[in-house]
Amino acid sequence: MNQATWTDVDAYIGDRLLSRDAARYEAILAANAAAGLPAIDVSPLQGKFLNLLVQISGARRILELGTLGGYSTIWMASAQPAGGILISLEYSAHHAEIAQRNIAAAGLTDTVEIRIGAALDLLPGLEKEGVSFDFVFIDADKANNSAYLDWALKLSRPGATIILDNVVRDGTVIDAKSGAPGVTGSRAAFDYLKAHPQIDATALQTVGLKGYDGFIMGVVQAKAEPR
Ligand code: SAH
Ligand code: DHB
Ligand code: MG
Repeated sequence: MNQATWTDVDAYIGDRLLSRDAARYEAILAANAAAGLPAIDVSPLQGKFLNLLVQISGARRILELGTLGGYSTIWMASAQPAGGILISLEYSAHHAEIAQRNIAAAGLTDTVEIRIGAALDLLPGLEKEGVSFDFVFIDADKANNSAYLDWALKLSRPGATIILDNVVRDGTVIDAKSGAPGVTGSRAAFDYLKAHPQIDATALQTVGLKGYDGFIMGVVQAKAEPR
């Protein structure tokens, strides 16, 4: 089993299950590439997975950390019920501008709000506004992952879904000696969850077009007791 197989199988599955959406989402990736954005969006099948999670949970209020070109944003916002809102935090004004364009083309300008700045600077503002989220997708700078989990917990209602991307990183997550921010950030996230049973969580390893990685998925509990 190798990368070529994972890529071919993603293409096979995409052909059967993404045909309805394929052109629309390929256009977003093409726009991002033309604008020079790095191709670090979720894969098409992962985007569809986020879309299905939003459908399953019926999430009306979604928070995203790390917009990039809005690819994951649009997969999620497209699944929200009428009256839903998605707030996405993005450090780069350039990324946000491209995302805003893609969101307009997707007809989602009224549902999606991009806020520009470092997430840790913007999150206190959301707390002051008293917004409570049903669904949080964390996919920004990996070094701050445990701080982002703490904010996700603070800003969510009981029953809310929390997803944190890129926590396996080719298996390097188990390298306790690594100094790479992607690894130390993932490990800090797992340590945070071990210490905070208020988020009942698992992590799934994934292979596909984007290599070998994985994501954390958790649900905010009503009480602090472990389950
Ligand atoms: N969720 C996107 C990919 C996000 S890539 C998708 O799947 O389509 C990570 C993004 O986080 C980049 O656009 C980067 O500029 C942004 N980012 C990095 N540091 C950040 C920070 N401190 N606050 C908010 N966004 C940040
Ligand atoms: C990186 C970030 C991501 O969100 C991702 O899905 C893959 C890679 C990165 O910063 O390298
Ligand atoms: Mg990611």
